[in-house]
Amino acid sequence: MEQTLVLIKPDAVERGLVGKIITRFEEKNLQIQAIKMLHLTREMAEKLYEEHRGKTFYAQLISYITLGPLIALILAGPQAVNRARLLIGDTAGTTPGTIRGDWAGSITYNLVHGSDSLRSATREIKLFFPKGDS
Ligand code: RTP
Ligand code: MG
Repeated sequence: MEQTLVLIKPDAVERGLVGKIITRFEEKNLQIQAIKMLHLTREMAEKLYEEHRGKTFYAQLISYITLGPLIALILAGPQAVNRARLLIGDTAGTTPGTIRGDWAGSITYNLVHGSDSLRSATREIKLFFPKGDS
């Protein structure tokens, strides 16, 4: 079964949206295979978002994702990577009916992360759930 990594970011935890967000995935039959709460170190945040190093929004992105605790999940199901991204919605949150489209306040504070490819999913799952953890 295909797996993807989803993060419920610190703004969503602070706003009390964790339950509602998890429900969106469960309702679409994406199964929770692992879940944990953690506060990212700067080092871990830099590994997660290494593709964005050097971009204008990079510094803001690293401070955002390390702002407070987040929830990491492995979700599984057919086409889990693409289906999770569809439920999350576009980066700026302009699509109603998606998690970001319904609740995100800005392109930066956009509540959720989902792996963008199978390759990213494999890399990110290893980062958050090292061997033996899941
Ligand atoms: P994510 O990786 O968090 O799932 O988001 P994404 O694929 O939809 O977007 P990506 O391009 O990978 O950007 C990563 C995160 O950086 C912040 N961002 N800010 N100010 C901006 O123009 C801007 N662009 C991106 C967002 O928090 C985005 O989720
Ligand atoms: Mg991305």
